[in-house]
Amino acid sequence: MAVRRFLLSKTTCCSVVFVSWMLVTLMRAQGAGARHNRRELKSFIKLPTEAVDADSDEMGTRWAVLVAGSNGYGNYRHQADVCHAYQLLIKGGVKEENIVVFMYDDIANHQQNPRPGVIINHPQGPDVYAGVPKDYTGENVTSKNFFAVLLGDKSKVKGGSGKVINSKAEDRIFIYYSDHGGPGVLGMPNLPYLYAMDFIDVLKKKHASGGYKKMVIYVEACESGSIFEGIMPKDLNIYVTTASNAQENSWGTYCPGLNPSPPPEYFTCLGDLYSVAWMEDSESHNLKKESVAQQYQSVKQRTSNLQNYGMGSHVMEYGDANITAEKLYLYHGFDPTTVNFPPLNNARPEAKMEVVNQRDAELFFMWQMYQRSNQQPEKKTDILKQITETVKHRKHLDGSVELIGVLLYGPGKASSVLQSVRTPGLPLVDDWTCLKSMVRVFETHCGSLTQYGMKHMRAFANICNSGVSETSMENACLAACGGYHAGQLHPSNTGYSA
Ligand SMILES: *[C@@H]1O[C@H](CO)[C@@H](O)[C@H](O)[C@H]1NC(C)=O
Ligand SMILES: *[C@@H]1O[C@H](CO)[C@@H](O)[C@H](O)[C@H]1NC(C)=O
Repeated sequence: MAVRRFLLSKTTCCSVVFVSWMLVTLMRAQGAGARHNRRELKSFIKLPTEAVDADSDEMGTRWAVLVAGSNGYGNYRHQADVCHAYQLLIKGGVKEENIVVFMYDDIANHQQNPRPGVIINHPQGPDVYAGVPKDYTGENVTSKNFFAVLLGDKSKVKGGSGKVINSKAEDRIFIYYSDHGGPGVLGMPNLPYLYAMDFIDVLKKKHASGGYKKMVIYVEACESGSIFEGIMPKDLNIYVTTASNAQENSWGTYCPGLNPSPPPEYFTCLGDLYSVAWMEDSESHNLKKESVAQQYQSVKQRTSNLQNYGMGSHVMEYGDANITAEKLYLYHGFDPTTVNFPPLNNARPEAKMEVVNQRDAELFFMWQMYQRSNQQPEKKTDILKQITETVKHRKHLDGSVELIGVLLYGPGKASSVLQSVRTPGLPLVDDWTCLKSMVRVFETHCGSLTQYGMKHMRAFANICNSGVSETSMENACLAACGGYHAGQLHPSNTGYSA
């Protein structure tokens, strides 16, 4: 694959300032009157000079928030991604006290994990679980806690380690999120989901408080572009990339039976396409030389799966593109063992990665379990029942949304209104409060949206955009789902996703 070459913009002025500062400091330290051996002075400044371009802008502390927004063994890959990211940052010298990890933590010691206490993120990869701090696990993985942590607001944090991003004006922050998503939302193992506009408001607040110099955000989820499309300001000193655009899936990879495949004892996917692309890129390059822009390009290339968008997605960028000129080590740190690695590879042989769409990964996982339980007929019947239930609820959700559309707009127009995608640059919905109300009304009558049902967020958004009142929506939901018993999947058991 031909990889485009980039002009490496050198911050020469800053290097000069830095060298002068070094000299002054040195003179002071040695006493201004002292005579110096010129060669000695030269060799002294030579070492730091090499790194000056890269180091010149390094003043503050690096912070990171890592979030795996799902739970369950079938979602192994999201927590594996996040654990891997943690190890990468630690190797880069980012301090544990400056990294906050959100993960449900039900994978490593899950009874179905073939390697107890171990999590891997690559078929031949090492354990990435050991040492990952349990800052926010289980019930404490919530969007409220995520926001409070990011804002550095200890008083609003409920449970967990209490670690927050206590960053200062000169600091840099890296946020990485891996999970399921839908138009305008990112998943959380404890409801409600994270809504795009709430996240943007938190970013604005953090910016207003002068809590950082620059921030880089990476998000992997289905329709992750919709979290930022049309609402992400360019003037917050924040740069964002997402695994997919506002209307497409993102993909799980290293899945059983696919190529590349996990070790045979695993029947779940180990990673996600965009996530392993950025992490494997960061691990194989000298991050003092590779820029944020270069990583964006190579991750975009790999996540497209050789321009095959039926098995890959469009990596998108939002926010302040000026940040892309910065070197990656300012966010991911620098592992000294990578010093001789290239800033980017010119001719990297890239094989196609076989993938499973995030939404089908759950069923794919159950099917793998089903096929592998031939020796246990009872278990097999059990799994088949689970699969049937899952499919039944999916059909119920799809059918209900469709019927509600027909009731609201008539059979001719329903699907075109519900499925309509706004022009790029426009937000998913104009009124985010309306979106949440419509979701709650729907769930009250039709049952929980679940991980799968997040895909219907666009329909609810379009219902808001077309000006339907909450009362009309309520009536349509009653008509479509009136006699339906959601059982376990009623929001009184699961909570509302809005
Ligand atoms: C949530 O946080 C509280 C307070 O730190 C802790 O006692 C509890 O064990 C945590 N829950 C989980 C599941 O980790
Ligand atoms: C990006 O840099 C250009 C040139 O220095 C500047 O004009 C522009 O305002 C910057 N954009 C942002 C969002 O800061």
